[in-house]
Amino acid sequence: MPDEKREGWWNILGHPIIDTGESDPSKADTDDDTLRVPTHLPILPLRGLVVYPMTAVPIRVGQPRSIRLIEDTVTGKRLVGLVASRDAELETPGPDDVYRTGTVAAVHRLFKSPDGTITLIMQGMMRIRVDEFLEEEPYLMARVSIAPEQVERSPEIEALRRKIAEGFENLSQLSPGVPEEMSTLVINLDDPLQLAYAVANQMKTLDLADAQRLLELDSVGDKLRVLMGLLSKEVEVLELGRKIQTDAQSEMEKTQREYFLREQLKAIRRELGEADEQQIEAEEFQKKIEEAGMPEEAEKEARRELDRLRKLPTAAAEYGVIRTYLDWLTSLPWSVQTDDNLDITHARQVLDEDHYDLEEIKERILEFLAVRKLRGERKEEFDQDEPADLIRREREGVILCFVGPPGTGKTSLGQSIARALGRKFIRQSLGGVRDEAEIRGHRRTYIGALPGRIMQALRRIESKNPVFMLDEVDKLGMDFRGDPAAALLEVLDPEQNREFRDHYLDVPFDLSQVMFITTGNLLDPIPPPLRDRMEILRLSGYTETEKLRIVQGYLIPRQLRENGLRSKELSFTEAALRQIIRDYTREAGVRNLEREIGRVARKVVTRIAEGDGQPVRVTKANVSEFLKKPRYFPETALRTKVPGVATGLSVTMAGGDLIFCEATKMPGQKGFTVTGQLGEVMKESAQAALSYVRSKAAELGIPEDVFEKIDIHLHVPAGAVPKDGPSAGVTIAAALASLLTGRRVRDDVGMTGEITLRGQVLPVGGIKEKVLAAHRAGLKTVILPKQNNKDLDDIPEEVRESLDFVLAEQVTDVLAAALAQDKQT
Ligand SMILES: Nc1ncnc2c1ncn2[C@@H]1O[C@H](COP(=O)(O)OP(=O)(O)OP(=O)(O)O)[C@@H](O)[C@H]1O
Ligand SMILES: [Mg+2]
Repeated sequence: MPDEKREGWWNILGHPIIDTGESDPSKADTDDDTLRVPTHLPILPLRGLVVYPMTAVPIRVGQPRSIRLIEDTVTGKRLVGLVASRDAELETPGPDDVYRTGTVAAVHRLFKSPDGTITLIMQGMMRIRVDEFLEEEPYLMARVSIAPEQVERSPEIEALRRKIAEGFENLSQLSPGVPEEMSTLVINLDDPLQLAYAVANQMKTLDLADAQRLLELDSVGDKLRVLMGLLSKEVEVLELGRKIQTDAQSEMEKTQREYFLREQLKAIRRELGEADEQQIEAEEFQKKIEEAGMPEEAEKEARRELDRLRKLPTAAAEYGVIRTYLDWLTSLPWSVQTDDNLDITHARQVLDEDHYDLEEIKERILEFLAVRKLRGERKEEFDQDEPADLIRREREGVILCFVGPPGTGKTSLGQSIARALGRKFIRQSLGGVRDEAEIRGHRRTYIGALPGRIMQALRRIESKNPVFMLDEVDKLGMDFRGDPAAALLEVLDPEQNREFRDHYLDVPFDLSQVMFITTGNLLDPIPPPLRDRMEILRLSGYTETEKLRIVQGYLIPRQLRENGLRSKELSFTEAALRQIIRDYTREAGVRNLEREIGRVARKVVTRIAEGDGQPVRVTKANVSEFLKKPRYFPETALRTKVPGVATGLSVTMAGGDLIFCEATKMPGQKGFTVTGQLGEVMKESAQAALSYVRSKAAELGIPEDVFEKIDIHLHVPAGAVPKDGPSAGVTIAAALASLLTGRRVRDDVGMTGEITLRGQVLPVGGIKEKVLAAHRAGLKTVILPKQNNKDLDDIPEEVRESLDFVLAEQVTDVLAAALAQDKQT
């Protein structure tokens, strides 16, 4: 080993050489200048530690066999083979428990402690490989060979060397364990190998496996690269640690400071004889009451409660109750409101931006705005009117009620209106509300009483004139705790809501500036008094083409935006969209459609995240790659294969839908069973249909006596959904006639209509929804009551043209159109 290098490491060490008696250990056995490692060496296994060449480390030994080894060595050649034990837990590792690559090291210094252990300073010299263990007793002896590293010199190595020096400098600044002189020495090392080992030696957190790997790598280039990785990871961890610490510290300092200041403030006030906490609280409420801008009655009540608060001890239960009450009173938006934007052009633009078509509804909204605007401008003239008159006129018809199947844009229209007006928007679902108190609050005498949902919502939105959407008015319940619909009536009635009195607050709050909008899926369940106060606007569902426009113009752009995609990264062909609409969704609205588009978008996002940046074009051919199997199949053909089954059209919560009436017969005697969760009205209509068919048996070609010999069972499937209403009359009649004549019902026909005993067909509701459903399901002919003729005007052209309509006056018209000619029994 050349002297120049030795100097290097001595310098690194920063320790002077201690003369240990023999001149130079590395030359112990030789006269010339080169280090010679004996072929047989005692082996000292180290626990959890790798000693590198050219570095010095302190080692403590306590095991008898190790002490023996050291004692023998210091009297001999002073050279030991150091290898790391694979398992740091092992007390006395054997030949199989240690790594085979290690370092030959010289014992430089030795201290004996009173407890018998020995501390050594070991100087690593060269890498060795253990070829064979020769003895295990009294300590391990092995035949070894030296294993010099490959030291390349190249610009890359030089670059790595500098990088490592730099990294190490960072590390030593971050970690308190490395003395500054030491780091300066290490950084200035020129020999890349020595640098690698010196740095590794200083990194106290290295895994044993990593440390051993560094030793085992032959090329210095590899060593440097691996070390670089380990080093930067370590620096990162330390930096993070430091950040966490400083963050925690400053947070702590802040809260401490605040706490301290507060305490001081209290102390000062106490000194000055100023106030205690209760007083401070009372003052705060006083201020809030002044600022809230309450009407007279409310303010009076608030002051009265505040007086009571002042007199109570803070520990009294009543104190908390009053405090909560005052908190509520003072945080309501008594006089906070937003300014309306009554610019009609702007409003139209906003509405068009958010929703396709829905012209009628948009027009209605614009009318409402226009009226407001004009009245505002001609205020003086109208101020001379009777106040009551004024109120009525201003409020009339203002409560809009959107009725329609899910996903047709009711909620989002509400949001749009708010946006157009520049008002805040709040939504409150009334589904399942059965208790009046949920709307109007509990009286304050109840423990834990709170205001009702209306006032809670207003406080949350912090404005007295938001657009307030009351969702699902059709799902209001009612029970012994009172009628929520009645409470709602008060909320919505412009005559009463100027002075709406929540039970908890017990002072009037003016709701007249709120723009209420209600929504529901069905009209029928909405309590009639409530219905009377609202202007009903129907959203019946969209045709395929309308859906296509919506998905192209609104849903796809939105899903792209929400998923962070650029428009060129994902596109759909029209055919693909039509297929998704037809086979993957069956709905009146577009909610599932949007969901399916979202599904595709997320797939594409995942692809991009995985590194595949190819733009995706969804076509009819590859839709199935992105979406699971089609969910819907045409079912009419399948169901109506046998006589006795007819396809009806009905209106459910989900919009229009098909409903199958199945009749079957069996030997018996005039029995008639009806199943399928049918309501009373529907059962009666089944009876009427049967009576009619029996009375017309001869005309229909049904043998007179057949009824004597059979039982008939009528079933209306479709889950466990309760069904009611008279509009399935013609369908049941058709099913029965089909069963008894043996003529199938045509599989492309859908029908609706109420029947009388005499066989007249009476008009029914929901024509638009029903026709749209028939169109969705791919039917060709729709049989309707003649008197519903006028309703056809509402049906979009596209749908009207693709369907044949049969307008029936008599059940015979229905049967003529519905029953197939051929007979089958
Ligand atoms: N005409 C339309 N133009 C653009 N987007 C529409 C249109 N109709 C519905 N949508 C979109 O469809 C989605 C579902 O609409 P929304 O949530 O308003 O349905 P809803 O009628 O309130 O349904 P529910 O009865 O279930 O509450 C929304 O993202 C909405 O923007
Ligand atoms: Mg909704």
